[in-house]
Amino acid sequence: MPPETPPTRTTPPPIRYQDMAPTFPEGEIDVGALVPGDGPIELEIGFGRGAFLIGRAVAAPASRVIGVEIKSKWAHLVEQRRITLGLTNARAFGADIREVLPRFRPDASLARVFVHFPDPWWKKRHAKRRVLEDTLLDEVARLLTPGTGELFVQTDVEDRASELVALLRAHGAYRLSGDATSGLVSENTYGARSNREARAAADNLPVFRVLATRA
Ligand SMILES: C[S@@+](CC[C@H](N)C(=O)[O-])C[C@H]1O[C@@H](n2cnc3c(N)ncnc32)[C@H](O)[C@@H]1O
Repeated sequence: MPPETPPTRTTPPPIRYQDMAPTFPEGEIDVGALVPGDGPIELEIGFGRGAFLIGRAVAAPASRVIGVEIKSKWAHLVEQRRITLGLTNARAFGADIREVLPRFRPDASLARVFVHFPDPWWKKRHAKRRVLEDTLLDEVARLLTPGTGELFVQTDVEDRASELVALLRAHGAYRLSGDATSGLVSENTYGARSNREARAAADNLPVFRVLATRA
């Protein structure tokens, strides 16, 4: 009898989340067509593990909530969770917000934009990786409904909140709510918490919140 060949060990192929996460169409993106219905359209930028996106869709069933996350893995997993929960008023997409936001149409179509804990890279040398740079504020201003559209940002880095308040004050298209000096608001009134926000609350850490309305 010939000697038995030992079974060869094969490594499973890597999971290609970039092929699994929902993506946007090419060219102009009609935001109203992304989620069925005719409710106000809200956008969450960088939803991470998705607690706010899912929680907001539950808390505001009349709204249509679109999430954009650069990490395909989280976009895929959060979209799967949304489907499992039967939430039809939200969608999670995998994309770089800086690439897709300029393609969103029409102007003035968003009721709210949420950005929770946007930057782990808060040091000066990481400034060019920041999501909330000036050009993004221009695009958000283009897309928010004048007079009522809201931008709500939360961070645990006080300097980042102050920088954002300064950018918004200088911008011209936004009216800040909150304290006249700091420009900060104390509460998240949207009925849902992001994962980082929940962790900050559990650890008793301060959260700095900025709320601006499109002028
Ligand atoms: C510190 S995490 C916060 C996650 C979540 N918002 C929370 O509060 O738990 C920042 C998130 O922004 C995402 N992000 C960073 N740059 C992005 C970009 N250009 N487009 C979309 N998402 C981005 C990251 O992948 C990450 O999930």
